[in-house]
Order: sequence, then structure tokens, then C-alpha cells
Amino acid sequence: MLPFTRPTLDTEEFEAIKEVLQSGWLATGPKVAAFETALADYIGGDVQLRVFNSGTSALEAVLLAYGIGPGDEVIVPAMSFVASANIIVRCGATPKFVDVDLISRNIDADAVAAAITPNTKAVIPVHFAGRAVDMDPIYQLAEQHDLLVLEDAAQAIGTQYKGRRIGSLGNPVCFSFHPNKNMTTIEGGALAINDPALLKKIEGIRFHGIERDAQGGMDVTAWGGKMNMPDVSAALGLVQLKKLDGFNRKRRALVERYFQQLPVHDALVLPADDAEGHSWHMFCILLDWEKTGLNRNQTLEALKQQSIAAGIHYPAMHLFSLYRQYGYKPGDFPNAERIGEQTLTLPLFPGMEEKDVDRVCSAVISLLNDS
Ligand SMILES: Cc1ncc(COP(=O)(O)O)c(C=O)c1O
Repeated sequence: MLPFTRPTLDTEEFEAIKEVLQSGWLATGPKVAAFETALADYIGGDVQLRVFNSGTSALEAVLLAYGIGPGDEVIVPAMSFVASANIIVRCGATPKFVDVDLISRNIDADAVAAAITPNTKAVIPVHFAGRAVDMDPIYQLAEQHDLLVLEDAAQAIGTQYKGRRIGSLGNPVCFSFHPNKNMTTIEGGALAINDPALLKKIEGIRFHGIERDAQGGMDVTAWGGKMNMPDVSAALGLVQLKKLDGFNRKRRALVERYFQQLPVHDALVLPADDAEGHSWHMFCILLDWEKTGLNRNQTLEALKQQSIAAGIHYPAMHLFSLYRQYGYKPGDFPNAERIGEQTLTLPLFPGMEEKDVDRVCSAVISLLNDS
């Protein structure tokens, strides 16, 4: 069975984890410190990196440190993994969904501008599937309205925007290292930021609110949670980070092969191939089930018969029961809803070979030809 994704792990990763296990220090320690330094070098710019036990924790810590809470509205795309909206609820604030572009799956500044109210405190652009959101107009808008911009780059480690790595500009940007992502620490996430005052608060939120003085004394002045990354994960991350650009080049090469082989067909909508610096976390197509004559479950089953597992990323978030309680309903965000209904994620991971892409393309083409 060809999965839609699989982490690429080798002897070097196994050895790195073994070394930590044998060292006797498993929780946050020297490997975390080394990983934070290596990530900062990789991202570039004048930023500091802090790692977490998940991307969700990193995002949550930023909103909490910023004091986002009840009465505040936070703008977020209706098309993302549900963590992007759940973190807003976690803070007691209200998610304000906006629609995305059908092809890029990303929000733009016009959509954000239309959703701003006097209660808006923050906007969370999501770099969907590793494709950079056009950030400059969003930052301009945020400056005019005094909004926090928190970039959800969970899917975008290694992505570049206008020639610079996402995360290198200084505003808070969060990454995920879940096993599905372009590099993994098992579970894990990171924050890039260059605001020392906010960073101090975030460090407290990450670990029990503990502050240490030069003598090793300890004080707690505010609440903190338990969001730290263990050294086992950081050791894995150090090895994966060295390989990340190679992984992303391989993803790009596989995607080019998809583009070469998948046909122009009125039941098929391909992602755009025009974004520079795209790290191709996923290759998501849209299929019009009415035109193909098979619904999504039947299509998934037909692919499974050919030992191909496709994914679904994602159902539109505003239609989940939780978010309907905020008054959202079908018809609110047509692009997100169409993506939610028609999306299929084709296999894409660095361990794939060209012949795997060819096999997937043949299967998709035969589905289209039978329609
Ligand atoms: C867009 C987006 N945001 C946030 C997250 C949360 O990251 P994590 O799973 O590391 O908590 C994910 C993970 O899938 C994601 O895809």
C-alpha cells in the first residue's frame, strides 16, 4: 500500500535517539538547546526559536501570551486543520472564519479586511500545504488595525516567501513537526519570534511559569503549562533538519512529475504550480464527483484496490458541530466548502519514487477516463 505520506527515517535518526536514551537525560535538555540553535540558523533573520511538544502548543502559547481572550475576535481561514481554530476557542476568544482561494487554499488581505470589526485582535494566516500566503498586504493591514499576525506555518517548514524563509521576519510564526510534516520530531513544534518581552512570557507559559535567576533560584509570577519538547524529539529533529532541504527538493521533483502526467480534465482541478519557495507539504487535487460518477468514498475504495491510500485535507472547519454553535452554516464560505467536499490528497513523501507517482497518475487517469 502506498500511503499518502510517510516520514523518512534512517539509521542516523535511530542512532540519535539511541544516544539520548542511553544518556539518561530524556526530557528537555542539551538536545533541545542545540535544536533551537540549529533551527534559528536554518530559518535565518534576527529571530529566536523555541521548541514545543506540538505545533498546537506553540500557537496556543503565543495567543495566551498576547492576552487574547473573551470578547476578542481572531480571523482564521475556514480551510485548515482544526487546530488553527481550536487554539482560538482554547483562549476563550471567538473565531472569525474567512474564505480561502480555491486554488491556493490561502486567505488574502481583502478577505481579512472584510472580516475586521472593532473586536478583532489577531489574524492567523495558514500557509496551506506549504504554499506561502501573500503576507506583505496582510502585514500592512494588520499594522493599520493594530492586529497581531500569528502565522500558522505548521505545514511550511522550509517554505520561502519573496526569497526569505517563512519565520525569518520576526513576527510570531509556528511550525509543526508531526510525523506527517516535511520533517518530524514525532510530536513537536516550534516558534520563531524576535520580541524579547513576548518571548519571556511564552517561555513561562511553555513550562509552569518558572523563572530562574542567575543563582539557579526559582520563582513563579504567572501561570504556565507543560508544553516543552523532550530531548529524544530534539535529537530526531537535529538529524531531520539537516535533511530538510533535500526532502523538499525531492517533494518538488515528485510534484513536477505529477504536473507532467495529470491531464487537463473538466472533473479535475490541480493545485497551482506558480508559487516560488513552495515546500509542497501535500499535493491536493479537487475531483468533481458528479462528473467522475464516483463519490469520494467510492474513489478512495477504487484507489485502495490499487494499493494507493489518498488523504482528505480537510473538511471545512466552520461546518464542524463546534463551530456551527457560533452561527456558521453551509453556504458561508463556498470555496472552503467545495474544497472540503472535493479534495483528495495524493501520495507525496521523499521516500517515493517516480514510478510511484506514475502509478498514482495512471489510477487517477483511469478514474477520469471511466467517467
Ligand atoms: C495547519 C496546521 N496547524 C496546526 C497544526 C497543529 O500541529 P501539531 O499537530 O504539531 O499540534 C497542524 C498539524 O497538522 C496543521 O496542519
